[in-house]
Amino acid sequence: MKAVRIHTYGGQEVLTVEDAPMPEIGERDLLVRVVASAINPVDWKIRAGYLKDMLPYQFPIILGWDVSGVVEAVGSGVTKFKPGDAIYSRPNILRNGSYAEFIAIDENEAAFKPKTISHACAASLPLAGITAWDVLIKTANIQAGQRVLIHAGSGGVGSLAIQLAKAHGAHVVATTSGKNIPLVKSLGADQLVDYRSQQFDHVVHEMDVVFDTIGGEVQEKSWASLKAGGILVSIVSPPSAELAAAHSARAGFVFIQPDAEVLAQLAALVDAGKMRPIIAAEFALEDIVKAHALSESGRADGKIVLYVGKP
Ligand SMILES: NC(=O)c1ccc[n+]([C@@H]2O[C@H](COP(=O)([O-])OP(=O)(O)OC[C@H]3O[C@@H](n4cnc5c(N)ncnc54)[C@H](OP(=O)(O)O)[C@@H]3O)[C@@H](O)[C@H]2O)c1
Repeated sequence: MKAVRIHTYGGQEVLTVEDAPMPEIGERDLLVRVVASAINPVDWKIRAGYLKDMLPYQFPIILGWDVSGVVEAVGSGVTKFKPGDAIYSRPNILRNGSYAEFIAIDENEAAFKPKTISHACAASLPLAGITAWDVLIKTANIQAGQRVLIHAGSGGVGSLAIQLAKAHGAHVVATTSGKNIPLVKSLGADQLVDYRSQQFDHVVHEMDVVFDTIGGEVQEKSWASLKAGGILVSIVSPPSAELAAAHSARAGFVFIQPDAEVLAQLAALVDAGKMRPIIAAEFALEDIVKAHALSESGRADGKIVLYVGKP
């Protein structure tokens, strides 16, 4: 099958489009024909070797842990899906990923694809959507009427997080650069802060929840925007417990895991018209270098889709 593999850690030049063996499926696995994959920053962080101590891999690696496609075959113990089903998934990051014509996925990591959107759109939902859910629903337990600050409202995670918070009745403040104000407004944000012309910590206060998608200085300044008893949840680096205590607040950190139940709930929100993934750009599998370059630029507005095969 055609795949993009890396045989060593490195820059974009290590991304190699080549023939790779078909994945072998285990008892509980689905063999999925990939229609679309999506790029996430973790892809190029793994490619560059930044996560090699945390995630042990054997080369060659197929990157890409978002997928939407069609079940081609199932293992003998599979009960939930059958060949022909359209599924989507954020599969186990320690197995080969979805920059390929086929992928093997544990059936417990897959859910039926949302019916009202294309495979390209569905592929852009799992990783960022589960992350947003884990932060806002599972960790911060947001409630209707609460005030939530979401950093990088135009990013892959932020653009979904805004919609999820609004669907739960929260008041949403989002940071963005001026060029993305119309996009972020269209997602439902109640208040926007152009981070290039305003210091968000000077104008945003008394938040119940801050969702940190940036880390570093942005995370440090975010304590000033929280109210006492509020929670700062990061997906970039664990916030300091000492600073949390000093601000009478709480700190949380999320590292996404596969979650088919959350995927089913996200699909229901999408099919009810309450959420829509934003696509920044679509690339063919062969254009993987351009796709990584856009993600690494840090400027993508929404998700970057990798189109692999016919629906
Ligand atoms: N822990 C986990 O489980 C987990 C899961 C998913 C993602 N992550 C991490 O979370 C981070 C965000 O992921 P992502 O997929 O959302 O990234 P992304 O889509 O690549 O983010 C790009 C967006 O960030 C905006 N941005 C950049 N700097 C900003 C700033 N200082 N303030 C506000 N907006 C800013 C850009 O908008 P402008 O062009 O307008 O600046 C752009 O739209 C990454 O580091 C990723 O690795 C972690």
